[in-house]
Amino acid sequence: MSRAKGFISFEGIEGSGKSTQVKCLAEYFRSRGQKVIDTVEPGGTGIGEKIRELLLEPQNHMEPLTELLLYYASRAQHVREVIYPAILDDTIVITDRFSDSTVAYQGYARGIDLKLLSRLNEIVNPDLKPFLTFMLDLDVEEGLKRNRMASKKDRFELETVEFHNRVRNGFLQIASEEPERVKVIDASRSPDEISRDIVKVIEEQWR
Ligand code: TMP
Repeated sequence: MSRAKGFISFEGIEGSGKSTQVKCLAEYFRSRGQKVIDTVEPGGTGIGEKIRELLLEPQNHMEPLTELLLYYASRAQHVREVIYPAILDDTIVITDRFSDSTVAYQGYARGIDLKLLSRLNEIVNPDLKPFLTFMLDLDVEEGLKRNRMASKKDRFELETVEFHNRVRNGFLQIASEEPERVKVIDASRSPDEISRDIVKVIEEQWR
């Protein structure tokens, strides 16, 4: 699988500030005259948004395998309907979450076999990997507190602190295995400081 230059993902635990940084980076590219879209998983398409509702409604009691397949269903639609066509059109794609979230949440945190995830990934998304991934790292309790203050409450915010620590450690494990692609950013700081770090990485790598 090759890393596509115009494809960037943001990853991180709940409340790590990904969506703000996705918008800032999209604005950075736009202000330099580049074509760019920002998108989100689960979601990013009409079908994906319906799947997102199913996945995140707090009252849905869902089997781990159902959950896993719904994330892949949303991604199958997203890569074909939005991401591939944009990249082929020389448009930079910035996504708020992608495959690393599945490995961290369904793999490391839920305990689904990582080999199964890798087999499914080969079917759903055989040839597309982000060129860069920003992993916004933050203390789990701090992230959950931020979301509570923003009144954000979905199915995953109801999980235990231990679950979210497994997610965070999963992300850090992925970053340690692929340091070229995955850049860990300290997300405990102000949005401006975080954004400056991200732009610095982009300017170093985007030649
Ligand atoms: P968020 O976009 O508001 O962070 O919500 C998406 C939720 O879905 C978040 O709790 C992480 C979770 N998620 C997974 O568990 N697996 C995945 O593959 C993706 C993309 C997200």
